[in-house]
Amino acid sequence: MANRLLMLRRLKQFVPLPFRTRLKWLGYAWQDLTGGAREARVPPKRKTFIGGGDFIKIGDAFFGTLKRHGLSPAMDVLDVGCGQGRMARPMTEFLTGRYEGFDIDGSGIEWCKSQYKDVANFTFHRVDVFNARYNKTGKTAAKDYRFPFEDNSFDRVFLTSVFTHMFKDDVANYLSEISRVLKPGGKCLVTWFLLDEMSRQSQHPVLQFDFEVDDVSRTTVKSNPEAAIAFDLEFVRGLYKQFGLSIKDIEHGKWGRPDSRYDLQDMVIGIKPL
Ligand SMILES: C[S@@+](CC[C@H](N)C(=O)[O-])C[C@H]1O[C@@H](n2cnc3c(N)ncnc32)[C@H](O)[C@@H]1O
Repeated sequence: MANRLLMLRRLKQFVPLPFRTRLKWLGYAWQDLTGGAREARVPPKRKTFIGGGDFIKIGDAFFGTLKRHGLSPAMDVLDVGCGQGRMARPMTEFLTGRYEGFDIDGSGIEWCKSQYKDVANFTFHRVDVFNARYNKTGKTAAKDYRFPFEDNSFDRVFLTSVFTHMFKDDVANYLSEISRVLKPGGKCLVTWFLLDEMSRQSQHPVLQFDFEVDDVSRTTVKSNPEAAIAFDLEFVRGLYKQFGLSIKDIEHGKWGRPDSRYDLQDMVIGIKPL
């Protein structure tokens, strides 16, 4: 499997990007055509912009993680960078508290609004924050953005595969906002690519953070750093401390630890002290 991915990666270099994009789209369109009926709230593969992988399996697995870390039905949750509702979908039958999701991509939010209109406790917001990959015309910088919620309003805040596309000043501001909107005792579950002694040696076939972005972060694509960004673990620890969050646990993912029993990315579980 790893060899196949490595071979594909090498081959990719010889195929121009617009042609690759077209090919990928055709592959997805074929899957949509031949894949049979789609489950409710699962977007067509050709319209999915949040990355490959199985939409249902990934969402269900993260729901399991949330429950493992104490999610209960009456809690209020915030999904930052909610995309196309991959993490929201499995929660609809479970959550009686409030679900709020926001994202900078308008098409994902429109999709979620149309799919969840019969779920009264689920709300989706589009926010106009800049990101070179997801919202090139965004008016507000992520480093200056204030989440549209009151202080101390959520039991859980989570971000899956969002800080992996943001720069250091942006993640610093978002962590301070997470700390502000979490209730005392509330938890934040955030995925990262964390650089430590072990993950720096990672032989992952695709996630090679070869290029320096700044003193604390690296990227896989020099010309398009937001494609995937990894941060020094010590920098991340420092941020949590700075914003009054204590790190309860770090679940290192498979990208940097091939034998990990967790998902691809690393997950930091933080708590706002009581
Ligand atoms: C790889 S997708 C993951 C989506 C979703 N969290 C999931 O796991 O299905 C990354 C998402 O982060 C969103 N995003 C990027 N920068 C953001 C920001 N500054 N604020 C909120 N969302 C952001 C993108 O629009 C995109 O939907």
